[in-house]
Amino acid sequence: MKKVLRNQLVMAAALTLAASMCFAQDGAALYKTKCAMCHGPSGTPGAGMAKMMHIKPVSDPSMKALSVAQIEAAVKGGKGRMRAMPGLTDPQIKAVAAYFKTLK
Ligand code: HEC
Repeated sequence: MKKVLRNQLVMAAALTLAASMCFAQDGAALYKTKCAMCHGPSGTPGAGMAKMMHIKPVSDPSMKALSVAQIEAAVKGGKGRMRAMPGLTDPQIKAVAAYFKTLK
């Protein structure tokens, strides 16, 4: 019983470490976990989401016009109907904003 518990703790620690290593600066992974549920897997929200939440696809001229800094600001402080994303560090916000900018 004791051994099982220890193994679980080791596993949990290893997973936490692995997760923090892959996701720390990885904009694509962050996008998947933090943004894709609203903005869609490739930057085009599903029809229902687009309509209900008024989210524009990244192909929209107004989205294309955004600079990385403006995207960072939207993630950090929220923008209109989008709330600020909690739980992201500054480097993570930079990484995810840069990734968002690469979506077409
Ligand atoms: C809960 C749903 C939701 C999530 C999660 C979400 N967004 Fe949004 N996002 C929105 C909505 C809704 C808008 C439209 C805001 C408006 O115009 O009122 C928006 C707008 C934006 C805009 C345009 C801002 C502007 O200046 O027009 C950017 C850029 C953006 N989101 C980036 C992101 C990124 C990057 C993430 C992940 C870190 C993210 N969003 C996560 C709902 C979401």
